[in-house]
Amino acid sequence: MRKSMVAGNWKMHGAHESAVQLVKAILQGSERSDNAEAVICPPFVYLADIARLLKGSDLVLGAQDVCAEDNGAFTGEVSGSMLFDVGCRYVIVGHSERRSLFGENDAMVARKFMATQRAGLVPILCVGETLDQRQNGETQAVIMRQLKAVLDAAGIHSFEQAIVAYEPVWAIGTGKTATPSQAQEVHALIRACICAGDARIGAAIRLLYGGSVKASNAADLFQMPDIDGGLVGGASLEAHEFLAICEAVG
Ligand code: PGA
Repeated sequence: MRKSMVAGNWKMHGAHESAVQLVKAILQGSERSDNAEAVICPPFVYLADIARLLKGSDLVLGAQDVCAEDNGAFTGEVSGSMLFDVGCRYVIVGHSERRSLFGENDAMVARKFMATQRAGLVPILCVGETLDQRQNGETQAVIMRQLKAVLDAAGIHSFEQAIVAYEPVWAIGTGKTATPSQAQEVHALIRACICAGDARIGAAIRLLYGGSVKASNAADLFQMPDIDGGLVGGASLEAHEFLAICEAVG
């Protein structure tokens, strides 16, 4: 059985006080679950403080990005080992905002994926097509290209310690969620691609859906056979929404 997961991607929202309040509210409302894992990914600068708040709880810490290099003269960057140091266990790599706004191509995403694993962290690799690509019938080709870039660089065995998140770009922050069957179709494709490399790894890997996941649509998405949870943006900034999504998956 795959353990389900809900990961909250806070993006660049909030301030120190609101971050602390949000974590406290989530901690207060969260119930122990052996079937599901809840992860929060706050901005870098709040990670250390939030790690202290999470001590002894089941809530897990993740980061939104990482440097592709391990250390050195890379002004402004944060390494995987630094993230591990402050208590992170997961790192989001290849988010569509990193790809489209910060010029990260497939090769860079693959390097970040590998840097994450070198530091002992688990990458949450994001893939997803734009609206144009979907309308042009390119969804499958885009997803396969993004996935294979990492598979070719890192190797199939690296997917033993990885999560893949399908996030259609047209659904991120738009309120337009993929239907459960649209999402399932792509999830099945991703799993088949990984299974083609190694059936055991493909069957075991957790695949998250992201893109306007809310408490009201989470249960329908999570009941699909290849959807093991969600990567949640906007709704992860409200404790009751995030907790309700966690409940829907658990
Ligand atoms: P959203 O963001 O839930 O606000 O659509 C998802 C994401 O960007 O990971």
